[in-house]
Amino acid sequence: MVILAPMPGHKVHIKCFGCQMNKLDTALVTTALMDAGFSLTAGVKDADVVLINTCSVREHAEARVLSHLGHLKHLKRQKPNLIVAVMGCMAQRLGDKLLAHEAVNVVCGPTEIPRLVDLIGEALERNAKQLAITPEIRRENESHSASLERFESAYGRDGVDDGSVPGQAFVRVMRGCNNFCTYCIVPHVRGPEVCRSPQAIVEQVRKLAEQRVKQVTFLGQTVNAYKYRAGEKTYCLADLLSLASQVEGIEWLRFVTSYPSAEYYDEILAVMASSEKVCPYLHIPAQSGSDRVLHAMNRHYTAAQYLELLNRARDAVPGIALAGDFIVGFPGETDEDFEATVKLVRQAQYRNCFIFKYSPRPGTAADRWHQDSVPAEVKQRRNVELLAVQEQISDVLSRQFQGQTVRVLVEGPSKKAHVNPTDGADNPQLVGRTSGDHIVVFNGPLSLAGRFADVHITRTSPLTLFGTLAPAPALR
Ligand code: 5AD
Ligand code: SF4
Repeated sequence: MVILAPMPGHKVHIKCFGCQMNKLDTALVTTALMDAGFSLTAGVKDADVVLINTCSVREHAEARVLSHLGHLKHLKRQKPNLIVAVMGCMAQRLGDKLLAHEAVNVVCGPTEIPRLVDLIGEALERNAKQLAITPEIRRENESHSASLERFESAYGRDGVDDGSVPGQAFVRVMRGCNNFCTYCIVPHVRGPEVCRSPQAIVEQVRKLAEQRVKQVTFLGQTVNAYKYRAGEKTYCLADLLSLASQVEGIEWLRFVTSYPSAEYYDEILAVMASSEKVCPYLHIPAQSGSDRVLHAMNRHYTAAQYLELLNRARDAVPGIALAGDFIVGFPGETDEDFEATVKLVRQAQYRNCFIFKYSPRPGTAADRWHQDSVPAEVKQRRNVELLAVQEQISDVLSRQFQGQTVRVLVEGPSKKAHVNPTDGADNPQLVGRTSGDHIVVFNGPLSLAGRFADVHITRTSPLTLFGTLAPAPALR
């Protein structure tokens, strides 16, 4: 158990940018802050502490944080005692440069989060700047790992009350990354790959189930590469999924993000095919459809090998929903390379695709070795074109749900609920997701949040299914 000095009475406002890893870190730190006596506030104005979790994956993500810090700088002129703490990938990447920002009191990298509550406490007490980043982050450090593990095990127990979606929680199965895709900042800010023990992971799943969590998403940068040796046995992700599916109360299990690799692939697909609890969904980024670009990205597969993996998934798990990520405008990407990407997207028939414009990241191999040679307008054009191709595919796939009844895990009111006054207070517009990660919008009581419901689909759009609550919703 991590013992932290109690600091009652202070109000903290938390803002999280970035990926699911960051959401998970935010949830852990939130629990640690609450245990130390802090309370949460939704407004910046009445906060004693503002905590921002940051992302460095693209320049745009960093620009949003910097603009936010600009606002806080002005606020601090009226509230000089306000403490601003910056955690996350940007904290590790920029370190003391970020600490030098007029608004910032505390800078804490993602591998230093066990120290964050104490650093905030120090800053509140002394109003002095505090820096915690990991020097030589690529060097494995067992005591560091052990401290992160203790922190995660102690505070990774609440799937509720920290602003996360009711009934759902993330569980990290591995930290860091060893892949070094040439465009990617992650290995430089989150350190080497370390897999957590199956006992720690399953114990955490159990604690979450006790808190009425129904869906657990296993997280790892290359989650399908999970490997843990214990005596004679080597555990892989398929073993984790089997173990977690035996935990009473857990109904759905997901995992993100998968690297296109054959290792353990069939085992993972087999457990997905045989267990009702393992959701038939695979997020498996290709990044490009051009073998030349894939090689320059240091991705260890060709487009043909990638498509073969998708075929294997469809054979093993009929109806599986596939999702991908692509980067357009990687240095040197020609029209021909881009056409290969378009072709791959057409062949892959993803349910959904996330498309990003290449953003050079200081310190990565792509940035050191190549000019950011594709002009911004070409990146933009390719982005729009690829999105349009995917939209057509998503539209056709969505239409197949017309008239069907699907089971969803309800997340809560839809973001657009407030613009729909006809719904009535007892029957607002809700949003939920199917096991294949399809977004479903329907009207129903708020009490369904965090529960399963059956929805009859009456209308579809490329990314959303719309419907009505089935007459006898299965409440669990
Ligand atoms: N530029 C643009 N997109 C990137 N991604 C990662 N690094 C970069 C970068 N430098 C994308 C990849 C990854 C997703 C999380 O972000 O597609 O899968
Ligand atoms: Fe997540 Fe990567 Fe962004 Fe860090 S840089 S928050 S690991 S997406």
